[in-house]
Amino acid sequence: MSLPATLPSTLHVSTHPAVQHKLAILRDERTEPKKFREVVRELSWLLGYEALADARIRPLTIRTPLEEDRIGLVPILRAGLGMVDAMLELMPTAEVWHLGLFRDERTLRPVEYYNKLPDSASVDLCLILDPMLATGGSATAAIEVLKRWGAVTPVRIKLVNLIAAPEGVAAVAAAHPDVEIHCAALDRQLNDKGYIMPGLGDAGDRQFGTGKAG
Ligand code: PRP
Ligand code: URA
Repeated sequence: MSLPATLPSTLHVSTHPAVQHKLAILRDERTEPKKFREVVRELSWLLGYEALADARIRPLTIRTPLEEDRIGLVPILRAGLGMVDAMLELMPTAEVWHLGLFRDERTLRPVEYYNKLPDSASVDLCLILDPMLATGGSATAAIEVLKRWGAVTPVRIKLVNLIAAPEGVAAVAAAHPDVEIHCAALDRQLNDKGYIMPGLGDAGDRQFGTGKAG
């Protein structure tokens, strides 16, 4: 995948110091799973806040004012699970549809193993939640699943990641130029195993205490 000379206008990298501070805690290999999960949650809240900047609102007297846009949250299992609670705090009426994808570590291609999308796409905005955008294979597969299911214009799809690699951004922007990407950092590159450098290691393993990071 060749990288674009300029970054796509769909890419939004947070410049907020609180985001950068929290991301540094995740990058630190000494951060244990409990703390890691707490910080993933805090960062998700901040990124969700930024990703919702253009959500349509209708002030209501009693209920949450974010009810004009019907929102579906699509966490990519496993690692996206850690982003759900914070997003639900921001969007209490959102529905959550789990999508199970794992990356075959040999081919780096995504494998779908779980899909809990409802029968029809009855929302205005889908937020795909996944801490890592590496090759972009998983994100592209998730977007394709949503589009096949019916999340096509005027339904908007946004990707919310903690860390993105240029390769993943380029892959998503080339295949889905209509999808906005919100992230806390755009890192340098992928290594030969498809891990983001400097990154934070394996986001699923670090949250759930499995395997060995990186
Ligand atoms: C990680 C991550 C993304 C994917 C990114 O999941 O959470 O889903 O890899 O890589 P890509 O952009 O190259 O597709 P993983 O497959 O490790 O599964 P897990 O969350 O169950 O650990
Ligand atoms: N998945 C991760 O969890 N980390 C990476 O760096 C790449 C893919």
